[in-house]
Amino acid sequence: MVKRFAVLTSGGDAPGMNAAIRAVVRSGLSQGAEVFGVAHGYEGLQAGEIMPMESKDVGAIISLGGTILRSSRSPKFKRPPARMAAAGHLRSLAIEGLIVIGGDGSLTGADIFSREQGIAVIGIPASIDNDVPRTDNSIGFQTAVDTALNAIDKVRDTAYSHDRVFVIEVMGRRNGFIAVEAGLAGGAEEILIPERQFDLADVCERLVAGQRRGKRSSIFLVAEGAIKAAAVCAFITKETEYEARYLVLGHMQRGGSPCAYDRVLATRLGHHAVLRLMDGGTGEYVGISANKLVSNPIREGLATEKPVDLERLELAGIMAQ
Ligand code: ADP
Ligand code: F6P
Repeated sequence: MVKRFAVLTSGGDAPGMNAAIRAVVRSGLSQGAEVFGVAHGYEGLQAGEIMPMESKDVGAIISLGGTILRSSRSPKFKRPPARMAAAGHLRSLAIEGLIVIGGDGSLTGADIFSREQGIAVIGIPASIDNDVPRTDNSIGFQTAVDTALNAIDKVRDTAYSHDRVFVIEVMGRRNGFIAVEAGLAGGAEEILIPERQFDLADVCERLVAGQRRGKRSSIFLVAEGAIKAAAVCAFITKETEYEARYLVLGHMQRGGSPCAYDRVLATRLGHHAVLRLMDGGTGEYVGISANKLVSNPIREGLATEKPVDLERLELAGIMAQ
């Protein structure tokens, strides 16, 4: 029975990570455990940046974006010596378990660390990309969609005023979850994602056909892993009569106060992760599936596909007439 465990945030930060930290600390303390925080993700773990956490340390953070523990990307952690040092710091404090809040890369690292070093590990999926399989949502995704949608709605005002086409680039590393969700919600006329082939000449044909039907302005959403907004904008300018502009939302999608959905998700997953760890679980990550809390083996779960819902893409196309 794990009675002393640590928690860290790793990889790309996501709105709601603080809500998850808060849930992990308060759930652990409520179960009689001693809880420690690790600063700066796997970099901090290697350096021994580990401190005890009390309930007051996570007061008034549920609404804060970012992560009070800070995060990192740590290439060193991909090599055994760094993982050895990390395990040594945990053992020197008699810490038997680790909860890792992060995306698919962080969860992969957690699994390798756990198997190699014999430290019990439970993962909590947190990434705006929403690319962690076997969980409907990762913490931060819905907030990032809301942030992108807020920008789309504002841009549509000026696109309308000036009869322009705006190409908006959203994050997602190698997938189109943010682009599809925000595009459908924002009424985007085109949504270009890595998961579905597209031809810019066809896109321009549809644009001109829309113009003939009286559509004088449009919003195109592109996922960063599919194509750069600047390239689409240049193509439209060259091939059509439309005035086109573009913008890259970038890291603003990673910040901001988490929406209600992400705060509740983070709280539920944080508590579930503590219960799994204290119940002897390891090498697993928690998730939500059809609103039910689940836990999957990290290696098996991350090996499965998580396809974008192409039906939503079709629906967005029908709505963009
Ligand atoms: P995310 O967790 O948001 O997907 P990354 O893919 O950058 O972010 O992964 C975060 C960190 O997890 C990496 O910087 C590295 O320290 C660790 N990590 C990722 N993959 C591995 C791996 N195969 N072995 C060990 N550590 C890994
Ligand atoms: O994985 C989350 C993410 O925001 C991706 O969508 C994006 O491509 C990447 O991180 C950016 O990485 P960094 O924060 O290191 O610039």
